[in-house]
Order: sequence, then C-alpha cells, then structure tokens
Amino acid sequence: MDTKTTHIYKDNPAVAAAFAEWLVDWLKGRQRTTIALSGGSTPKLLFQLLAENYANQIDWSGIHLFWGDERCVAPNHADSNYGMTKALLLDHIDIPANNVHRIRGEEAPAAEAQRYGQEIQSVVSAVDGRPAFDLILLGMGGDGHTASIFPHEMHLLEEKEICGVATHPESGQNRITINGPIINHAYLISFLVTGSSKAEKVKIILEKQAGYEAFPAAHVHPKDGITHWFMDEAAAALLS
Ligand code: 6PG
Repeated sequence: MDTKTTHIYKDNPAVAAAFAEWLVDWLKGRQRTTIALSGGSTPKLLFQLLAENYANQIDWSGIHLFWGDERCVAPNHADSNYGMTKALLLDHIDIPANNVHRIRGEEAPAAEAQRYGQEIQSVVSAVDGRPAFDLILLGMGGDGHTASIFPHEMHLLEEKEICGVATHPESGQNRITINGPIINHAYLISFLVTGSSKAEKVKIILEKQAGYEAFPAAHVHPKDGITHWFMDEAAAALLS
C-alpha cells in the first residue's frame, strides 16, 4: 500500500521552515542516520535555514550525507549539487569530512556511477542485502523526473545497479543518479516540491490521473510505503 502524505504550506520559505522542523524532530534520538539529498534549486532555502537556525541543534557527527543525483561537472561548477550544498550548508555546520559522500561529477560517468554505488554499499546499512537509506530527499522536475531519472530513461527505475548514468533530455548533460530500486528501498522518502510549474504533474501523480505512470516521480514508494510530499500552495494548487 503506497501512502502519500501531503504537507502544504503557503510558499517556499514556509515549506523550508516546516521541513526543517520535521527533520530536526525526526532526527531526535537517532545515533546514526544516512540521508541522500536532492539537488536543483528547491532545497536551497532549506539548506540555508538548516545552516542559520539549526546548525547547533543537530548532531551532525552521526549523520552521513549523500546525494540522490549529481550533474557530471566539477564540484566548483555552477551546476554542481554538491557545490551548492557546500556553499549553503556544509561550510556552516560541524560535520565530519568523512560523513560527506559527494558524487565525483568530474570523473568519467560510468566509472563514477559504479564507484559511488560501492561507497553507498560500504556506508549505508543493508536490508535484505541492499543499502537502505534512512531518508531520501527528492525534488521533482516539471516533466515529472526525480533524482536524475527522466521520462525518457524509465529503465533507471528498475536497474539492479545501485547507481546509473542519466542524460538530461534537453541539455544532454550526463548525470549520476541513484536508481529506482535503491530509492524505493529507503525507510523514508520526502519530496520537496514548490512552484506553479510543478502543479500539473503533482495533480496527475498524486491523483493517479490518466498517464501518471509515464512520470518517474510516480514510481517512488519506499519500503514502509510512506512518501511525504512537502509542497507550497502553488505546487498543490490543482489538487482536488
Ligand atoms: C537535480 C535534482 C532534480 C531536481 C528537480 C527539481 O539535480 O536537478 O536532483 O531531481 O530535484 O529537477 O529541480 P528544482 O528544484 O530546480 O525545480
């Protein structure tokens, strides 16, 4: 049974504030936590908020940060999800360097996908023989993609490899992504989706309207079956 729990707030700042509170509460009492972060622009406010208001409220020593996907660029490139996260969050919190597991976007894609999969396997605790993240944070593109699983590469939802190489449909930019089976093997998944450009796909996916299966974000359902959708009113505007 795939339960989707929606959390809807006025605007992106309110979504970031609510998710930060939810995250801090969820982390309470946890000794060791593995989290895969989303990239793109939506999480920027959340990362800034965590850095400004929660840097000392979270014990980062027990948290291992990964990325759900990364653009195949150097870490100091404007497109780098790691570079963005470093500037907004990592440089402002006391997290051990060994707890930050970046995808090396500067490396050859296929080799890095394999290497990163091995890194995940060596750090993330296994359930039924496969790495199970405690939490995966995901965004959704206006085309219904999530992580870097795009509608033209649906096979990445089923690949047995932990990570795969994706290609952005417009730019052709290579991406490394965690593949669907590992995303869905996580204990907890939360989408962070804001803005009116996402509203149409949010409606189609959450209400399972005709054709919803064509969108990768529709195929996300973690092991214990709960997927949280943190959204602003603009992204949720078309929901019944
Ligand atoms: C990335 C992301 C991607 C993102 C969506 C939404 O590397 O871009 O991981 O899946 O979450 O494309 O992007 P925005 O937050 O910029 O709308």
